[in-house]
Formats: sequence, structure tokens, C-alpha cells
Amino acid sequence: MMTPTPFVPPAQRAAWQRLQALAAAPRPHLRELLREPQREARYALEAAGLRLDFSHQAVDDEVLKALQALADESQVDAQLAALFAGEPINATEGRAVLHVALRGSDAANPPWGEAVATQVRITRQRFLAFAEQAYRGDLRGFTQAPITDVVNLGIGGSDLGPRMAADALACACPAGAVRVHFVSNVDAWALYQTLRGLDPARTLFVAQSKTFTTQETLTLMASAQRWLTDAGCPASGLGAHWAAVTTAPERAVAAGIHAERVFPFWDWVGGRYSIWSAIGLPLAMAIGENAFTQLLTGGAAMDAHVRQASPAQNLPLHMALLGIWNRNFQRMPTHHLAPYPVALANFVRFIQQMDMESNGKRTHVDGSPVGIETGPVVWGGPGIDGQHAYFQLIHQGTHRIPIDFIGVLQEHTPLPLAAEHHRVTLLNLRAQARALAEGRSAAATHALLEAAGQDADRLTPHRAFEGNVPSSTVWLPQLDPSHLGALIAAYEHKVFYQAAIWGIHAFDQWGVELGKTMASAMAQGK
Ligand code: F6P
Repeated sequence: MMTPTPFVPPAQRAAWQRLQALAAAPRPHLRELLREPQREARYALEAAGLRLDFSHQAVDDEVLKALQALADESQVDAQLAALFAGEPINATEGRAVLHVALRGSDAANPPWGEAVATQVRITRQRFLAFAEQAYRGDLRGFTQAPITDVVNLGIGGSDLGPRMAADALACACPAGAVRVHFVSNVDAWALYQTLRGLDPARTLFVAQSKTFTTQETLTLMASAQRWLTDAGCPASGLGAHWAAVTTAPERAVAAGIHAERVFPFWDWVGGRYSIWSAIGLPLAMAIGENAFTQLLTGGAAMDAHVRQASPAQNLPLHMALLGIWNRNFQRMPTHHLAPYPVALANFVRFIQQMDMESNGKRTHVDGSPVGIETGPVVWGGPGIDGQHAYFQLIHQGTHRIPIDFIGVLQEHTPLPLAAEHHRVTLLNLRAQARALAEGRSAAATHALLEAAGQDADRLTPHRAFEGNVPSSTVWLPQLDPSHLGALIAAYEHKVFYQAAIWGIHAFDQWGVELGKTMASAMAQGK
């Protein structure tokens, strides 16, 4: 991140100390806070069609004011401006961070400049034209049979985004001519279980790798190539079965992939922020060019919001600040994501990488060790399934775990009783948010048990709920491309703002390098 000059560690900022004092003072139970009139209307923000309801967070006006002061003292506006201007805020790699340019390059006078905008536009036209050919069923394999299946080979940022969004949008977007599959794991079974149902003559592989050096992806590629040749695909026919997306196009071409099917992106796009780039190719093949463009539009709408909104109205900034309140001042080390649309199941893994690979850092931007907690452990899963599994621990365990619930207001699954499914789903979401916040006091529990003729004295300790579990709910009007784009961008900006306040670098990932280096050294017998 840009280093605000001079760099002041967050814990030395006045607002940080104010927040510490607020956290140390006796705080009302959420049960009390929820009785405040108008709380739901006052503690909500809207942006790009999304609504963030944070009425169930353990905050009041004083805490919010101090959090906003912390953002101000951390110069988050200047840091955001540096990101949009393409300054090398990924300082340990000397790179700009311009995923925002991928979704905003049709705007007049973009802050990242015309040169970046032009290369983004040219590449986007190329990869979306190719995606549309697949979507319409116009691609042919070595026997001239139409391509019916696309298998994405890639891992981490080269897998999680398009995989998540293809699932999330399967209902909203008309299916095209191809089924899209994702294989990320080098374990042989992962590839085999996908390929065993497919016809090599009708299958296209998309090799996705920012570096084109990732051992797992190269191994999957070699295995897929062998599967094609074993099925009789001649060397001259292999080109019809491959495409690649990478920042190192020369490596893809050297691997035998035809240059016209190699789509570039750039070192200023982090892997975990790359869904907006040509890494979105398999997604665009699944949902079509139009829908993919709407995803970009939704992301750009959230970018416009963060650049224009006042701090008090800035939705992603509030997601970040509430996270910091919970992490640093309420001492909660994990953050739970509970999407209620099951189509967003993979959203958890996607955000896990985005958040933990970005903010799992222990060094400040000036090289000093952080004396504070940084990125939380992000975990979760589809809400309803969680309720019947690990929610017990959230309700009555010894951890206090903040939650982001994610809900959609309208649902369009073509099933006769879909509206009833949706009613039950939303009812549960709202009930969990309330139950976790309010809990049930010992006195109320005792009275209930007594009225039911049960052994109230013995059972009360087991049946009472501490409550006071904070949550936000992010509401989407519906799960369509533009709102999904806005949702992804909201989390990206949340992660950015948290790093900006913690004073850490969000856009490198040196932590994952050691294992990679070790594996290649060991392969050479070292
Ligand atoms: O190992 C982590 C990582 O570097 C991620 O940041 C990245 O998304 C993933 O590996 C895949 O790397 P590549 O796209 O270069 O194959």
C-alpha cells in the first residue's frame, strides 16, 4: 500500500486509542441496542443496488464516529486515490494494482490513463469474442465435432473467481452450448473424475496461470494433453482443444498453444483480483458475453461509489471498519461468511483467498512488525447447512464469531414451489441474525422452562444463550451478474480499506512462496 508519510503505526493513532477506551468501557448487550427506534433504518447503507444492514453489529454512534475518524487518520482516501491512479502500491513487487481498470475502462478520462484502458479494451474484445464462440457452440474439435465441454485448469486466483461466479449465475443466465468444469487440484482424481464423463473430441481445455510456472497447473496440462493424444488427437489437431490465459503469453505459445488463443493479462492484476480479466474466460463461456459485461458494470458501479461516497455513506468502508472493530477491539479472531443462496457456496472460498492471502500479514508497510492483529481467519459455508452443523458453536461455544449473512430478495429458480423455498430460507437468515444477537437470558430461559413444566433450575444453564454475536447482512435484490459484480467489488474494497488502516501490504503474497520454492528445490534433490 501507499505509505502515508510519515507512517504512523495504527495503534499510535488517536482514534485507535479512543476505540480502545470505548471497547474497554461497559458496553450494552445487542439485545438492548436492537430496541433502539429506527436502528434498522439508521444502521444501513446502500450502494450499486446492494444494501448493508449492520443494525446487528455491536456498535453505537460513538463507536462509528471513532471508526470513521480512524479511517480518516489512516488517509484511506489518499490511499484509494493512489490505487486508482495506478501508483505502485504493491511496493514489495514494485507493481501497480489496477483490477479496477478491468471493469472501468470504458469511462472517459480514466485515472489509470488511456494506455491501460486501451490494452484492457482490446484484450477484452478478443477474449469475449472467443468466449461467445464457445457459448454459441461454434467451436470445433479435431474431428470437427462441436465443443460441448470446457475444462478450466488453474488454481487459486486462476480458478476460484470464475468457478464461484459460474455457479452463482447458473440460474440467472441462460445456459450456452458448453458445460464448464473446473479442475484446480493436482491430485489425479480431481482431473479423472471430471474427464471420465467427457468426450476428448468435444472438450476444450483452458490453461489459466498468471505466471505459467505453477507446478500443479503444468502437471494438469500435461495430463490433459496425454488424454487427448491417447484418444487419437493428432499433433496437428491439438490446437483446437486448447486456449490459455496468462501474463506470460510467450510461455503459453512455447507450450504449443496457438497465439490467437492465448489471452494476456498484466502483472498489475493480482491473481485473487483477476476475475475481471481474461481469467474470466471460462465464466464468459458459461454465461455469455453480455452477462459477463454486466458483471463488469456492477463492479464499476461499486468503484464509482467508493470514489464518490462520503466516509459516512461508504458501504465497503463500513464493512472494513466493522471488521476492524470486531477484530482489534472486540478481539474476535475469525470472521464467518454465511451466504443463504446455495449458489454462492463457493463465494466463501473465493473471499477466503481474497482476504487471507491479502491481509494475512505481520509486517507494516515500513518494515516494522505489526503490534496489532491483522486479517482474521475467514471461514463459512451456505447458511442453512451451517445452522445444522457448526452454528451450535457460534450460539453456545466459547468463541465470539462475527458473521456476514448474505441474502437475496428475489429468487427465480424454475421450480413450482421455489417461492416457498425462498420464504423458508429468508426466514431462517433473519431468525439466526436475531437469535445470535439477542440470545436468551437465564431469567427468560428459566421462566420458559418453568412454564413448560420442566426442571428449570437444572436445565437453565444449558438452555440459555449469551447472544451478543454481531452480524451484518448484505442484501442483493437478486443474484444476477451486475449485483454479483458489485458484491465482489465491495469485498475487494473492504479488504483494501482494512489493509490501508492496518498499514500492511495487501497485494503481495510472499507467504506462499516458501512452500513453492521448497517443492522445486526438493524436486532437484536439494
Ligand atoms: O500460491 C498462491 C498463488 O500465487 C495465488 O496468488 C495465485 O492465485 C495462484 O497461486 C495461482 O498462480 P498462477 O495463476 O500463477 O498459476
